[in-house]
Amino acid sequence: MKKLENKVTVVTGGNSGIGLATAKLYAAQGAKVTITGRNQTTLDAAVAEIGHGAIGLVSDVSDLKNITGVYEKVTEIFGKIDVLVVNAGVFVAAPLADYTEEMFDQTSDINFKGAFFSVQKALPFLNDGASIIITSSAVSGKAMATASAYAATKAAVTSLARGFSAELADRKIRVNVLSPGPIETPIFGRNGMTAEEVDGMKAYMADITPAKRLGNVEEIAEGFLYLASDDSKYMIGGDLVLDGGFSRF
Ligand SMILES: NC(=O)c1ccc[n+]([C@@H]2O[C@H](COP(=O)([O-])OP(=O)(O)OC[C@H]3O[C@@H](n4cnc5c(N)ncnc54)[C@H](OP(=O)(O)O)[C@@H]3O)[C@@H](O)[C@H]2O)c1
Repeated sequence: MKKLENKVTVVTGGNSGIGLATAKLYAAQGAKVTITGRNQTTLDAAVAEIGHGAIGLVSDVSDLKNITGVYEKVTEIFGKIDVLVVNAGVFVAAPLADYTEEMFDQTSDINFKGAFFSVQKALPFLNDGASIIITSSAVSGKAMATASAYAATKAAVTSLARGFSAELADRKIRVNVLSPGPIETPIFGRNGMTAEEVDGMKAYMADITPAKRLGNVEEIAEGFLYLASDDSKYMIGGDLVLDGGFSRF
């Protein structure tokens, strides 16, 4: 039996990495899938890969006037939303002394403000009983040099999931976060680092993770499926940590 038969699902940042793997799994499990991202070309390629009638909509989560239009369009095409995955995010790392206001604003506007308003603007378009999942990170509770601002935005969304759960309990809308550890995706290469630096960072991450490797996107998508489906119906305001032990050691 498919776990998301006819469920209307939206995955922000669904044209790459974790979001794309999640969208593919949701579609394979019977969901009607919409993905968003800023890049039309990668959205088109991702939609072709997902199949099952998925659609892609260009939207920048840090630009609030973009967000409502996505939900209006989804509702028009598929109906009200059952599962919202607030996943769009960037990893901007630099030593504290070198971290610019622009880097800070980008990190905060996409990972924190973007997440907050992705949920707020969705409220009129969500079915009662919907599941909202926000992508946090295993670094949210850890010290990681060069990633203080990033980690803080992820701690912020973990907090949001608790607060939102309290606010939305009367509509039986569950809000949880999923906290991945270091996962093999293009995110590290979008940071202005050279290929060599990216490889070095990944090797370091693998080394400090008890699993001794990076996770893969399919392992994380399984967690998003759990949180989307009724299997997790007793989980509210929680944090599903899938991190190869990264945050525990
Ligand atoms: N990979 C890891 O090790 C790891 C670990 C913990 C948490 N995470 C989190 O997992 C999420 C997905 O990351 P990923 O690793 O899969 O990276 P990724 O492959 O770089 O994917 C990031 C996604 O976010 C979208 N995005 C970025 N800024 C956006 C914006 N302003 N508006 C709309 N979409 C935006 C990107 O699409 P466009 O470029 O087209 O906008 C892309 O689809 C992020 O929240 C990240 O912080 C990742």
